[in-house]
Amino acid sequence: MGIERGMVDPLRVSRKDFVRMGGLGVAAAVLGLEASADRAFADFKFASNPFTLGVASGDPLPDGVVLWTRLAPESGRLPNRRVRVRWKVAADENMRTVVKRGEVFTGPERGFAAHVDVRGLKSDREYYYRFRVGDYVSPVGRTRTTPGFGASPAALAFAFVSCQDYQNGFYAAYGAMARQEQDLDFVVHLGDYIYEYGPSETAVPGREHDGPEIITLADYRKRHALYKRDEDMREAHRMFPFVVTFDDHEVENNYADAIPEEGSETPTMRQFLRRRAAGYKAYYENMPLRPSSMPQGPDMRLYRRLNYGDLAQFSVLDTRQYRTDQPCGDGFVERCAAALSERQTMTGPEQERWLKEGMNRSQARWNVTAQQTMLAEYDFRAGPMESFNMDQWDGYVAARNRFIGFLNKARVRNPITLTGDIHSAWVHDLKTDFADETSKTVGTEFVGTSITSSFPGVFIPVVEAARPDNPHTKFFDGANRGYTRCDLNRERYLTTFKAVPTEPGQGSVVTPEATSTTLAAFVVENGRPGAVQVEGPTTATTSTQGETDRGYGRLTARENW
Ligand SMILES: [Fe+2]
Repeated sequence: MGIERGMVDPLRVSRKDFVRMGGLGVAAAVLGLEASADRAFADFKFASNPFTLGVASGDPLPDGVVLWTRLAPESGRLPNRRVRVRWKVAADENMRTVVKRGEVFTGPERGFAAHVDVRGLKSDREYYYRFRVGDYVSPVGRTRTTPGFGASPAALAFAFVSCQDYQNGFYAAYGAMARQEQDLDFVVHLGDYIYEYGPSETAVPGREHDGPEIITLADYRKRHALYKRDEDMREAHRMFPFVVTFDDHEVENNYADAIPEEGSETPTMRQFLRRRAAGYKAYYENMPLRPSSMPQGPDMRLYRRLNYGDLAQFSVLDTRQYRTDQPCGDGFVERCAAALSERQTMTGPEQERWLKEGMNRSQARWNVTAQQTMLAEYDFRAGPMESFNMDQWDGYVAARNRFIGFLNKARVRNPITLTGDIHSAWVHDLKTDFADETSKTVGTEFVGTSITSSFPGVFIPVVEAARPDNPHTKFFDGANRGYTRCDLNRERYLTTFKAVPTEPGQGSVVTPEATSTTLAAFVVENGRPGAVQVEGPTTATTSTQGETDRGYGRLTARENW
């Protein structure tokens, strides 16, 4: 079934034409990408190990967790029929005390991915799991359930990550995290898990993309497999349950709902929704997501909640699928009227209601929003001129005011926002009015740097020069790649920015094996919004006006965050 005809000529609708038409009912458009393969299953004998993409777990509950694997033998040879995958969960690493076991079937219609929604486990426990196909067994994964709904856990440790452009280097950050942070309860991924681009001339040697820009389901599946073959990332997935959400590059740079990016290879709505369906399907297939997140054509319910007893509640957002178009021509620009329009939304009305309802009902000490682009304002132009990133909440000012205004009025307890997207580390006070330094601080935003994706060194002086114009910003570092660790207890929220070595000036990760070091750390005290620095440098580097101007020119020319 294709998009419903008669609504619009689907053959040629440009991005801006589509906006003028006011955004059609995209959710209603359902694309069927492939007929379901209704073939008999059987035990298939693989000629080589099918577990080359590793194992993963995710979305922990008090009584369960999702287990994941995807069959991909080195030979690439897969049967044209369904395959039985056996799984088991044990209380010990040696898989002796088995507590659950079962089997699932997978096949070509689901990219040979297997998802198991295991239930009936005990809360706040470590578990181990393994898959078997024929004579082949997978590595043993480790996972962990969350404390029960009525529980009052004393502490939680997790890390958050984002943006892992394969071409900008090795996943040393994942390797370091797996070796150095073994006590983490889970890892949150804030998006840009893959990048859609073709090979880059500036790719780190050995890390080039293996084909042109990806568009079809086969392309997206292949790209996910390329990324998953990275040993360090496989180890991180094996070690920790993940809570994932996507940003733009899992489909296409800077798309907004059904609107592709300017100059897209899939310029019509029909082409783009077909592509979005392919990107979402491959994303689901490759992530440890619950079947409730399984996409239907171009639609996928990804926003969801995670509770950690009464210590923390996580609202995991999707700010791509339902957002209005980036205003004022996108990019880094002065705001035009459209950026201030009440119609602007990042979440869509339904998700916005869901977010507020969840926070209203929350009993949690810390109320964490895990999402994609920077929520706090940042004026990137030093001096009287202004420049804002239209892909961030700065292009959606009314939506931000609604959200921060709600946090304030509803007296949401200890709001914390976690953000990715911009490939650099930041700390912001969330203000009721960013234009008024003396206005109330209602929460704190921590923006984590990328696993690999680049933040060109020439942009650093631009941000630094604009710091005096943005007094709510407590920290910025653009030179490092890594991950961010959060340690919560009932009295404080400690955020530690961890960095891995990069090529000087380039910011790319050129060494696969590395140790992470602490770049800076910040504490938020219970009941006192706003972060206090407890470790790391407090003064910014200085640069010349020439460097700042040059960097600003490059920043405004770049589009592919
Ligand atoms: Fe990114």
